[in-house]
Amino acid sequence: MKKALITGANKGIGFETAKKLLENGYFVFIGSRNPENGRLAVQKLNEIGFENVEAIQLDVTDIASVKNARREIGNRTEVLDVLINNAGINGGFPQAALEAKAETFQKVMDTNLYGVVRVTQAFIDLLKKSEKPRIVNVSSSGCSLTLHCDPDWIYYSHKAAVYPASKAAMNMYTINLAY
Ligand SMILES: NC(=O)c1ccc[n+]([C@@H]2O[C@H](COP(=O)([O-])OP(=O)(O)OC[C@H]3O[C@@H](n4cnc5c(N)ncnc54)[C@H](OP(=O)(O)O)[C@@H]3O)[C@@H](O)[C@H]2O)c1
Repeated sequence: MKKALITGANKGIGFETAKKLLENGYFVFIGSRNPENGRLAVQKLNEIGFENVEAIQLDVTDIASVKNARREIGNRTEVLDVLINNAGINGGFPQAALEAKAETFQKVMDTNLYGVVRVTQAFIDLLKKSEKPRIVNVSSSGCSLTLHCDPDWIYYSHKAAVYPASKAAMNMYTINLAY
């Protein structure tokens, strides 16, 4: 049975992705920074008939938590087939380029970029043992450099300096990772 880890899977897109992977026969580790929220997410999935799912405490901004999650998952499996770096924050809006605080950039980067780096590097050894490993870094078209430079793009005027910068940086990390 193929195994997947999803960060920030206790709710939102991560939770729905977990459901889809479970429907497709995967065993899913539900990463959740709050253990109780992880437990509740697993309970919800159990209630709708999914058994191959387990919660794992994982705060992507906390290297000790990431290392502990790696140890715990390593005790459960020798191989990880899929890592979905889904956990993300937007840092709150508005985010005008001349007003957004450097601290807000740091906080958002810590989750959306450095968090992806921490988790990817911690789990790469388990992924390398899979026949067909996959890493999915969840981005957003709203963070595209190309689209944000195109005055004809429908959201051209929807500017925000922090969140899109963090995802654009993550996109570059993803390109390097893929290479
Ligand atoms: N919603 C959209 O329209 C949209 C569009 C494009 C891309 N995205 C991206 O899709 C991903 C999921 O978004 P969503 O809409 O599902 O957001 P969401 O409902 O707010 O869920 C975000 C998840 O990330 C978790 N998280 C935040 N900081 C974390 C940390 N330090 N360590 C571990 N987990 C952390 C949250 O945990 P808590 O429950 O503890 O807060 C939650 O589980 C994000 O990367 C987002 O940028 C979303």
